[in-house]
Amino acid sequence: MGSIILFGPPGAGKGTQAQRILEHTGQPQVSTGDMLRAALAAGTEVGEEAKRYMDAGALVPDDVILRLIVDRLKEDDAAAGVMFDGFPRTTPQARALDAITEIRAVVSIEVPDDDIVERITGRFTCRGCGTVYHDVHLPLPEGSCPCGAFEELRRADDNEATVRARLATYHQQTQPVATHYEAQGLLHRINGVGHVDAITADILAVLRNV
Ligand code: AP5
Repeated sequence: MGSIILFGPPGAGKGTQAQRILEHTGQPQVSTGDMLRAALAAGTEVGEEAKRYMDAGALVPDDVILRLIVDRLKEDDAAAGVMFDGFPRTTPQARALDAITEIRAVVSIEVPDDDIVERITGRFTCRGCGTVYHDVHLPLPEGSCPCGAFEELRRADDNEATVRARLATYHQQTQPVATHYEAQGLLHRINGVGHVDAITADILAVLRNV
């Protein structure tokens, strides 16, 4: 079956779309950002090391990320492939991934920089279930999360200064990853501006044909 990569700048909607697509593919979402935040919350050495890079809008070193990924792919639920969200983010990460798993498709969710800052500074997540919301674009339905355990969570790196640094990092270090997959005929670009449901439909249409 092979793994799927949701690719794009910070705030493109990778996490939002992963939560919707996994209902269709059944493949687990593997978000390196979520893994690093979980490591930090657990007080591990990896989490502490990652924090200074994340706070600065820089990338965590490849060797740290690759150790997390290699371990994650050994878990039983990863046997039929996973949906990567936020990984790979450098060409060395992409090359390392090529050596350990089959990639079915890379979906690049394209959103202009001007939209990104507004999206990220308005983002919040339900701590109870992990659903991603936005103050304006995706507000809480009827004032609370349907999971019934709503608690608002805002990320430390979701401020304007850090978002601009994350965008610069994306353009310098992550965009070349698209070229890596384009050369393999695996890259599918979709417009990430528009209604969330329409973007989900576009991603599913790509996945039906690969
Ligand atoms: P990570 O957690 O991966 O953050 P990111 O890539 O910057 O992406 P985001 O989670 O910010 O955005 P998203 O695309 O998931 O958007 P979302 O769906 O939430 O990484 C954080 C840090 O960890 C990095 O800076 C780095 O330091 C480190 N790291 C992680 N992985 C690494 C790796 N592989 N290598 C090295 N370092 C790594 O949507 C954003 C907002 O927009 C939400 O509020 C949402 O409701 C809203 N929204 C979604 N879709 C739409 C739409 N169509 N219209 C309007 N609003 C929308």
